[in-house]
Amino acid sequence: MKALAINGSHRKGKNTAALLALVLEELARGGVDTELLEVSDLHIDFCRSCNRCLRKTECSIRDDDMPMVGRKMLAADAIIIGSPVYFSNVTSRLKLFMDRTRWMHMAENLLDGKLGAALTCAGLRNGGQEITQLILERFLQGHGLRVVEARNPHAGVFNLGPMATLFEAFDGSAIHWKTGALQDALAVQTCRTLGQNLLRLLREGQARATAADA
Ligand SMILES: Cc1cc2nc3c(=O)[nH]c(=O)nc-3n(C[C@H](O)[C@H](O)[C@H](O)COP(=O)(O)O)c2cc1C
Repeated sequence: MKALAINGSHRKGKNTAALLALVLEELARGGVDTELLEVSDLHIDFCRSCNRCLRKTECSIRDDDMPMVGRKMLAADAIIIGSPVYFSNVTSRLKLFMDRTRWMHMAENLLDGKLGAALTCAGLRNGGQEITQLILERFLQGHGLRVVEARNPHAGVFNLGPMATLFEAFDGSAIHWKTGALQDALAVQTCRTLGQNLLRLLREGQARATAADA
């Protein structure tokens, strides 16, 4: 079983990467092969809107990193996407990536049935995490992935994915910041719960496939 995480941050290895690593840690603990891709490491050209993907499951741009990313997405059983919040939205690099996945969706839904999950990280307390989270979840659903909830026993019926904030407190004149997203205890717990939920569903899928083969 394989899980691929994609970090949309323009900063490799920072807050969003740390949150994705928590989800992957839970999966790796259960024997899943895990990989974290940083979009800041990738060369991704703009979608040219040539519409070749309306007729064929292929993209007309072949000389950047997206063919490699596409192969990894097709080989994965679960795809987890993380984005920092930029103006209540995903980052521009991640949006480039999202647009360039259209060939896996239009003529055929090649990712259909895989597990998907999303997480976000913002500076402010009400910084646009929920909107960004919904944009990512909608993207995954558009590709036919089953979005896995991070339902958390400590957070009631709250069922969106992990949404971290770097805001710590306001003392009346100044904002105090956390030193990083890993200080957001609820986000950390929710990442771990998400990883455990993904692991359980991957195992259930594998058991069903084995039973069907027998
Ligand atoms: C261009 C830009 C726009 C941002 N917009 C928002 C925003 O709308 N709301 C917010 O709370 N934080 C915003 N931030 C702060 C980032 O969401 C925050 O620093 C994030 O945790 C960075 O994640 P990273 O450490 O993984 O790069 C913005 C940062 C940048 C660079």
